[in-house]
Amino acid sequence: MEIKDTRVVEQQQQIKKLQKQNKKLQRFYDEYKRVCRNEEERIKELNCLYQIAQYVVIENDTDVALDKIVHIVPQGWQHTNESCARITFKDNKYHSSDFFESKVTQSEKISIDKKIVGAIEVFYQPELSLETNDPFLIEERDLLKGIANIISFYLRKQKDDENRKLIQQQLLHADRLASIGQLAAGVAHELNEPLGNILGLAQLSSKLSKLPNQAKKDLGKIEDCAIYSREIIKKLMEFSRQSNLCKEKIDLNELIENSITFLEARCIKEGIEIVKQYTKPITIIADPNQIKQVITNLTINATQAMKTGGKLIFNTRKDSKNAILSIEDTGIGIPCENISKTFMPFFTTKDVGEGTGLGLSVVYGIIKNHNGDIKVSSEPGKGTIFEVCLPLEGN
Ligand SMILES: Nc1ncnc2c1ncn2[C@@H]1O[C@H](COP(=O)(O)OP(=O)(O)OP(=O)(O)O)[C@@H](O)[C@H]1O
Ligand SMILES: [Mg+2]
Repeated sequence: MEIKDTRVVEQQQQIKKLQKQNKKLQRFYDEYKRVCRNEEERIKELNCLYQIAQYVVIENDTDVALDKIVHIVPQGWQHTNESCARITFKDNKYHSSDFFESKVTQSEKISIDKKIVGAIEVFYQPELSLETNDPFLIEERDLLKGIANIISFYLRKQKDDENRKLIQQQLLHADRLASIGQLAAGVAHELNEPLGNILGLAQLSSKLSKLPNQAKKDLGKIEDCAIYSREIIKKLMEFSRQSNLCKEKIDLNELIENSITFLEARCIKEGIEIVKQYTKPITIIADPNQIKQVITNLTINATQAMKTGGKLIFNTRKDSKNAILSIEDTGIGIPCENISKTFMPFFTTKDVGEGTGLGLSVVYGIIKNHNGDIKVSSEPGKGTIFEVCLPLEGN
């Protein structure tokens, strides 16, 4: 009897021991499953980052890259099928497949040079927040930060590439203008003298007595053509002039006033309202006659673009180094395809006799000789702004 009891006790102890071991095994198994799940999540996240990084390296088109990235993002989240993503960049929005918006969301800012330019958001279906207040893992928050950083880096690189392309284009443009300038100077110089002779001889001949009427008329035409050609040559020589600047201290606002007085009456007559927004004082060291010519040429162009009236705004301001003058009109504007041609010699959209296409080339030459810069922006049908930058006194 006693022997039987001891056996039962032993068996019971054995069972307890086994139960304990079983519990321990179960705990190990749970822990193993948890680690595996974590591993899976980390692999998903890394995979997602890897794919995004790949696009960033190979894709040159920002729209395409952001669209591809936003489609990959949900794959990095634990509830992939219940999630979606959105990237906002400037005025554009990019969405992952089956996009929905919900209050269960996390977001990160996208910035270029510390300036916020957009955001990336991940949304979960609302029911996922029922179990816990924040269904997003800490790792997922880090992942979103990482993706936002990659996108910021990509956009910064795109901006740098665009700037580099623009500078290359400007250099090419400046180079071309310089070559044209040299050529024009040579041609203008060579033509100046024979043209003077043509004009002089035509004027002399027209004074001869007993000239038939037709011959007189023809000589008059020769004179007009010679005068017109002389104007072109004068402008070409101005455009290619490299030195001979008579620089002095000038108040830019005063110079604008002097330059536009003769145009003001005409503007009133043509229904053009002149608005002056001056920053005072604004002093530059420049050749007053040449800068006057810049203002005149830009103003005449602006008035010619407002045949049915409008607004002509003169604005002066300064930054730490430059005086900035912008001349804005509400005229016909310049079509996109013509913008890059406007400073080219002989580019004109005006009728023969109305424009030679040299006004802006002269302006460009003068501004460059003063170590300044000129930019144009325009919206067809709305108007045009020419912005002239000239070094302030002491710069
Ligand atoms: N403010 C403006 N608004 C719209 N188009 C403009 C403006 N300024 C310049 N343009 C465009 O640029 C072209 C070139 O201008 P530019 O002053 O060099 O020559 P132009 O005015 O045609 O002739 P000109 O030699 O008599 O000045 C113009 O024909 C016109 O098409
Ligand atoms: Mg002009």
